[in-house]
Amino acid sequence: MALKNMIKENNLIFEDLRNNIELALSNFTKTNTIYNNKPSVQHIVSDAMEYSLSAGGKRIRPILVLSFCKMCGGDYSKYYDIACTIEMIHTFSLIHDDLPCMDDDDFRRGKPSCHKVFPESIALLAGDALATHPYEVISKKAINGEISFETAVRLTDVLSKNVGVNGMIGGQVIDLESENKIITVEELNLLQSYKTSALIKASCKMGCILAGRYDMLEIASEYADALGKAFQIVDDILDVTGSFEELGKPIGSDSQQHKSTYVSLLGLENSKREADLLTQRAVELLENFDNNEFLVDLTKSLLARKN
Ligand code: IPE
Ligand code: IPE
Ligand code: MG
Ligand code: MG
Ligand code: MG
Repeated sequence: MALKNMIKENNLIFEDLRNNIELALSNFTKTNTIYNNKPSVQHIVSDAMEYSLSAGGKRIRPILVLSFCKMCGGDYSKYYDIACTIEMIHTFSLIHDDLPCMDDDDFRRGKPSCHKVFPESIALLAGDALATHPYEVISKKAINGEISFETAVRLTDVLSKNVGVNGMIGGQVIDLESENKIITVEELNLLQSYKTSALIKASCKMGCILAGRYDMLEIASEYADALGKAFQIVDDILDVTGSFEELGKPIGSDSQQHKSTYVSLLGLENSKREADLLTQRAVELLENFDNNEFLVDLTKSLLARKN
């Protein structure tokens, strides 16, 4: 079942957020800076960026930015472009994750992976360009007076830290270094905290920063730790129990690449129990925020997701 149908009470809010995110993303690819120099010799990399950005995906990370902004009392409707910056980073991570030198997966979001449609070199560069475009978007918003310079610096600080060697990229390195080895659960916890929770943490914190509620950063971070781990456990479970049609990416990829996952280390039932407990913890943490109904609903739905 699609995620939108699982979010029962707040299904219309989810659809509205997603539609506006899709619109903001298509503005980047169709009319905005990604294609600024078109027609130009480098248009092929813009095509590859657009291909992967517009391929779908749940858009959970920008939804987290906007939800945290709203729960912290900010006017989230002004920040769709900034929320999309984390989706650019996430899409870059997926393009690179699928490359033959990494997980070597041929499908993503129900379509051939970027490197299957474009030359591998262009897929690599499209990922690089999506990794850097966010900083152009954020700095331009500050220069245009749409956000303060302090907000821009704080957003850049959170984003760059959680993407880099102490964030998602660091996690991907540990993931690759752990192939063909049986690692401990503690090591897997560390791996996933970088690989997956880091971008989720950046999203939640960016929402607080946009609302100017620096006092909520710590709780947002704790929520992201719990949700991020539950999210990766469910991803590992779906790699075993999911279907290609629903997931839109190959199943069995982890065992094929000889990865240690929550399922391989804890077993299916313990993994499900752990994801359930973490989801309960995440929901409890949301009690610290007003107007949390939508995110409580979404957090619970992510546990039972099928894609
Ligand atoms: C997949 O992320 C990679 C992980 C961190 C587990 P998503 O499950 O959010 O992927 P999309 O964006 O919906 O395709
Ligand atoms: C990748 O984890 C997370 C990032 C891209 C940072 P996985 O390799 O498990 O993600 P999927 O299963 O290919 O989406
Ligand atoms: Mg991977
Ligand atoms: Mg992968
Ligand atoms: Mg996976």
